[in-house]
Amino acid sequence: MSHKNSIDLQKVPQHIAIIMDGNGRWAKQQGESRIYGHYEGVNSVRDVVEGAGEVGVKYITLYAFSTENWNRPKEEVDALMELLVSTISAETPQLNKKNVRLQAIGNLDSLPPACLQELNESIDLTSKNTGLTLVLALSYSSKWELLSAVKQIAVDVKKGILSPDAISEEHIKKYLCTKQIPDPELMIRTSGEHRISNFLLWQLAYAEFYFTEKLWPDFRKEDLYEAILNYQNRERRFGKTSEQLTQTK
Ligand code: IPE
Ligand code: IPE
Ligand code: MG
Repeated sequence: MSHKNSIDLQKVPQHIAIIMDGNGRWAKQQGESRIYGHYEGVNSVRDVVEGAGEVGVKYITLYAFSTENWNRPKEEVDALMELLVSTISAETPQLNKKNVRLQAIGNLDSLPPACLQELNESIDLTSKNTGLTLVLALSYSSKWELLSAVKQIAVDVKKGILSPDAISEEHIKKYLCTKQIPDPELMIRTSGEHRISNFLLWQLAYAEFYFTEKLWPDFRKEDLYEAILNYQNRERRFGKTSEQLTQTK
């Protein structure tokens, strides 16, 4: 039986963030080049996005390329950028068909112009869709994001628009790339690594973490459903005691 049937549709996380890791190791296992693993990873993206939409997830953020990933060998970086352009252009009609809206977070100006153009076109072409929002984290790192938020707040203070005492969580949120997006309730990382690698440090403050040994090219919607079920069996206490939670039920 599919895990899908066991999911409580009233308690599906509205935002799931995924660190898609393990493409290189997957390719190595097949005796192929790392780049082959990235190509195969696209099939997982397609399936997981479809699966998320089927159970009513509202936002899915995929960590596709980190600030640190620019330090990989040039051939790999170039191949990833080309894959990004070709995938976005090939998948946009399907995104529209499935009512998926594309968005992106990160230092997008650092992407190659062709890549940025394709991305912006797809964001534009899917902007009216009302189903799942697919957020690609590209040239993204949380420290970069927080640093740029701090700089913008400092400018407001300098201009006299904002007093240091008045700075609140809301001001910080306003300057994050995710200002329009609710914080993820669930963060999934594939490939057995137990770290967040500079991903959404602020936004994941109270997220539930789910780690799986599966390498990203092997991850499918059924694995997503397993993660959602695991999430649904957790008690989210937000600092309170377990008794307090049951009293208010
Ligand atoms: C994740 O897979 C994809 C990106 C970071 C772009 P990796 O390429 O990190 O695969 P491993 O971790 O080396 O197996
Ligand atoms: C994190 O994976 C970034 C993405 C999935 C895009 P990495 O494979 O780059 O992370 P580290 O370097 O092993 O922490
Ligand atoms: Mg990796």
